[in-house]
Amino acid sequence: MKYIIEGGNKLEGTVEVSGSKNASLPILAASILNGKTTKLYNIPNISDTQTTRKILELLGCKVTKKGNKIIIDSSTVTEKEIPEELMKKMRSSVVFAGALIGRFKEATFSYPGGCDIGSRPIDLHLAGLKKLGVNIETEAGYIICKCDELIGTDIHLDFPSVGATENIIMAAVLATGETVIHNAAMEPEVQDLANFLNKMGAKIEGSGTNRIVINGVKDLKGIGYNIMPDRIEAGTLLCAGAITGGKIKLKNVVPEHITPILHKLQEAGCEIKTEKNSIYLEAPKKLKAIDVKTMPYPGFPTDMQSVLGATLVTAKGTSLIVENIFENRFKYVNGLNKMGAKISLVGTNGIAIKGVKKLSGSEVDSTDLRGGAAMIIAGLASKGKTKVDNIAHILRGYVDIDKKLNSLGAKITKE
Ligand code: EPZ
Repeated sequence: MKYIIEGGNKLEGTVEVSGSKNASLPILAASILNGKTTKLYNIPNISDTQTTRKILELLGCKVTKKGNKIIIDSSTVTEKEIPEELMKKMRSSVVFAGALIGRFKEATFSYPGGCDIGSRPIDLHLAGLKKLGVNIETEAGYIICKCDELIGTDIHLDFPSVGATENIIMAAVLATGETVIHNAAMEPEVQDLANFLNKMGAKIEGSGTNRIVINGVKDLKGIGYNIMPDRIEAGTLLCAGAITGGKIKLKNVVPEHITPILHKLQEAGCEIKTEKNSIYLEAPKKLKAIDVKTMPYPGFPTDMQSVLGATLVTAKGTSLIVENIFENRFKYVNGLNKMGAKISLVGTNGIAIKGVKKLSGSEVDSTDLRGGAAMIIAGLASKGKTKVDNIAHILRGYVDIDKKLNSLGAKITKE
């Protein structure tokens, strides 16, 4: 499937941001922990949440979907093995390990494949689970986790890995005693998972800081929970406004989740006003070049690196972007250069973007989820038609991005 983008329109108007993909995936997995019924609201209807629902059903949960509401009854879970083809389809299924181990003290899953942005090891996940007392064996590419008892302990993460922090939290909420995670990830999605589990009756303190303390409890209750808005979709929509010299307002967004993105767009010359759950951006005729380096939260998010990179291709001056989180997250550069951008690699993890006057629409490929989003951003500002291929990558993480942008004045069709 392709998007066909007729570029050149200024984007203007108001658009609503959908629920967060990266909060939904661990929270859907964590609904296994209580063995009761959980109602989740504002779950985005994207292929990654569809895959996650399928895994829940394969494990034995009863799952019903009513629009953006998902009801999960995990009292009937019988399986503790995550099917290999679904692990390969979506590497973030690895968060099911923490949920299954947390409740059943066992889980079997295959090594989650690397993906287009890097090798994506899970050594920090496994080291944390081992410290909690989990015995881990590998056999024919499968990882078999088992233990008699989960005992709370001190865990030091070499890197503030989001997934490892989430897995350790889920494995520790029903453990015996206290677990402290040092150098924990501070991303808002980790906080959303902790808020969700605390509402179930878990005892988690310090989420959003780099030191998270979990005191094991005996059981967890069935609850309802509203997923936080998607901060990366919000940043992507703002960048669409920024590159087209537009004026857009986002609703259902948490400004403090995206302050690093807002600061960079202001540095590039955009006017930004924020209210409690909305953000207004007015872009200049021409953006100014800026320097960006990706860092763990609250630094500039790696998921926005390609999207901001695309936004800067027509800025005045030369921008420098350094990617510090993943080792292979510049594959989108070829597509932008094909459209007329002037981007060159700098060292092993940097790019220099020399602003150009105009881009011309071309046929380009989505190299991965956020690389595909970058192609859309550049297509919006290109003269003529841009064809973005392999949009299945984009549909993994963005709900109706074409409809949302068209409601702001873009001209995107699907074929
Ligand atoms: C989460 O991935 C997000 N995915 C990613 O979003 C996001 O880019 C990433 O966090 C960083 O913010 C979900 O939440 C589903 P990490 P995750 O563990 O948990 C290395 C998107 O586009 N590492 O924080 O896999 C790893 O190789 C996706 O929505 C180890 O070395 O990220 C990477 O270099 C892409 N060993 C760095 O840490 C480990 O055991 C950050 O990875 C784990 C990670």
